[in-house]
Amino acid sequence: MPHTTTMATMLELTDVDTYYGASHILQGLSLKVGAGEAVALLGRNGAGKTTTMRSVLGLTPPKRGSILMDGTEIARAKTHRIARQGVAFVASGRRVFGGLTVAQNLELAARTLGKRAAADGRTLEDVLTVFPKLRELADRRAGFLSGGEQQMLKLARALLGNPRLLLLDEPTEGLSPAVVSDLGRWLDRLREQGLSILLTEQNALFALAHVDRGYVMLKGRITHEASAEELRSSEEVRAALGVG
Ligand SMILES: Nc1ncnc2c1ncn2[C@@H]1O[C@H](COP(=O)(O)OP(=O)(O)OP(=O)(O)O)[C@@H](O)[C@H]1O
Ligand SMILES: [Mg+2]
Repeated sequence: MPHTTTMATMLELTDVDTYYGASHILQGLSLKVGAGEAVALLGRNGAGKTTTMRSVLGLTPPKRGSILMDGTEIARAKTHRIARQGVAFVASGRRVFGGLTVAQNLELAARTLGKRAAADGRTLEDVLTVFPKLRELADRRAGFLSGGEQQMLKLARALLGNPRLLLLDEPTEGLSPAVVSDLGRWLDRLREQGLSILLTEQNALFALAHVDRGYVMLKGRITHEASAEELRSSEEVRAALGVG
């Protein structure tokens, strides 16, 4: 979707300061995700990408600043209330209930998250249409899934909450190149469905191939903001991200 000034804003962080104890991590961070827009948040290890997501989710609430979700202030709201506003989070790494089957993981998510999904919400059927492979894997224990299959399961679970904004933290981490390209196709499909997406990635070239716009951050501050195309072709940005 093209970035225009008339696009409605889904998420807006303004001058956010977030701390872990005495460590001042996010230092006046501001960024926006438009409705139906996919945005990348790029930066090297320790830049503050995950902390930005934790701030939005209320897991590490900011000390100062504003976070608006679809016009509602959520900066100091509880995580469950933020989820109810339509924010879903897919954490990096292997975060599934390994002892449960794929079907049980999905049923659990449908029960706990799906309550707010209302009549027009995404159902398990809709989600299985995006990820048909999960049907074949229904009886498999989640702990035995490959990295890509687990990523699919995590995405499916998040979608069952019927989010309007999806926060994806380093989704390509630990995935083989073949699965990374599958992930790109899933992301494109979710964008087509109009979901707003904020994606953090170390793999900048992957992220920039699947978003409209991006930010580069360094030490808790935004250093660059531009369209995906501009960021891809900027020598300065490539150097800042360590992309060859
Ligand atoms: N629980 C914590 N307590 C104290 N400091 C933390 C904590 N979690 C993260 N940090 C520090 O905050 C800074 C930002 O970390 P964050 O995880 O947000 O970075 P990141 O950009 O997501 O990095 P990566 O690409 O490695 O995931 C780092 O310096 C990190 O060491
Ligand atoms: Mg991180």
